[in-house]
Amino acid sequence: MSVPPSSSTLAVAAKHYPAVEKQASLPVTRAMFDELMVPCFAPAPFIPVRGSGSRMWDQQGRMYIDFASGVAVTALGHCHPAMVKALTEQAQTIWHVSNWMTNEPALRFAKKLVDATFAERAFFCNSGAEANEAALKLARRYAHDHFGAEKFRVVSTLNAFHGRTFFTVTAGGQAKYATGFGPTPTGFTHIRYNDIAGLEAAFDEEGGDDICAVILEPMQGEGGMIPGTPEFLTAARRLCDEHDALLIFDEIQSGMGRTGALFSYMQKGVVPDILTSAKGLGGGFPVGAMLTTAEIASAFSVGVHGTTYGGNPLACAVASAVFDVINTTEVLDGVKARHALFMEGLRTINSRREVFADIRGEGVWLGCELKAPWQGKAGAVMQAAGDEGLVVLMAGPDVVRIAPSLIISLDEILEGLARLETALGKALV
Ligand SMILES: Cc1ncc(COP(=O)(O)O)c(C=O)c1O
Repeated sequence: MSVPPSSSTLAVAAKHYPAVEKQASLPVTRAMFDELMVPCFAPAPFIPVRGSGSRMWDQQGRMYIDFASGVAVTALGHCHPAMVKALTEQAQTIWHVSNWMTNEPALRFAKKLVDATFAERAFFCNSGAEANEAALKLARRYAHDHFGAEKFRVVSTLNAFHGRTFFTVTAGGQAKYATGFGPTPTGFTHIRYNDIAGLEAAFDEEGGDDICAVILEPMQGEGGMIPGTPEFLTAARRLCDEHDALLIFDEIQSGMGRTGALFSYMQKGVVPDILTSAKGLGGGFPVGAMLTTAEIASAFSVGVHGTTYGGNPLACAVASAVFDVINTTEVLDGVKARHALFMEGLRTINSRREVFADIRGEGVWLGCELKAPWQGKAGAVMQAAGDEGLVVLMAGPDVVRIAPSLIISLDEILEGLARLETALGKALV
């Protein structure tokens, strides 16, 4: 039984906890970031304070069209009513129990994921990195238990992105993120993305018997919006099968409807052994998941892996609501329709401006690769877009990335594209 949100609860809080009210009214400026925060980010000059659907407003009341949704996170836009309802109802029911107990929202959510995918078991955590950390540990443990301690090598791709824990950042194969932190975890082989010969060569080394897993993004997001070719993904599946290795698909960015399927593997015709999800999974509430088969999952017995917050009732209640909205023909077909509108609009812009060498992507997950002499200017486009009231992303220095809400309105797409064209005109001079 859910308890409706009550204004009297808020009134009680205001009366008894005035410090909370006071805190909310403290004036805040962008300069405070540099004074207070560890400088591992360089945020935009404006601070969004409110969001609704695919629009955000900053402290000055200026409206921004959101073509970024965080970084492919707010899949249903800002403050979607189904999510607000799930969150506020759960907030008045129970927030947290330890993993010494289970809870109803977690089990309901797990059932939905298992029913809708190849998977038979779910592990919940809080972020993409943690989902991949769990996936890599599980693959190693499974190989260890079934084939011996020598089978630990992980094949991953250069320019991938799998998260910022030291294990996942090493898997990512981008030296700039892993250097300077001391000895990196060993047992990784990096090949070029979409390079079938390179993948075969990795398996040929020492007979490939020490390889426990291949981890891949079905489309490289951070690495430049590079779709995985069906041949490459199929070869990865075949080689894993031939060598008793597990295929891990990192669907943290590609999953939850972003490409027009619930998970991208469903469109690619290649089924992984382990799938990781986060970002759009919670639509803005931090949650991650690792999905796998019952047989593989059994390599994690009690105490072998864990988390304090994974499967938290609040997170799972919200994620369940997100799942129910996204996993419908209406939303998934809508993503395909929006893809067509974006592609048409971007091509039209390019026919006038001639700034993109390539426009590619799947669903509402698009990359516009800048051509010479504009290479390296994706950051400048992002900034200029902000000045025009549009939020876009980059995927490396050459690619402007677009990853809006799956249900962004057609009018907002057109308005956002118009703003993008103005920004391109200003940034690329
Ligand atoms: C494909 C992919 N994997 C993993 C991650 C890491 O997720 P998180 O930042 O939630 O740890 C990201 C984040 O950008 C991602 O795009």
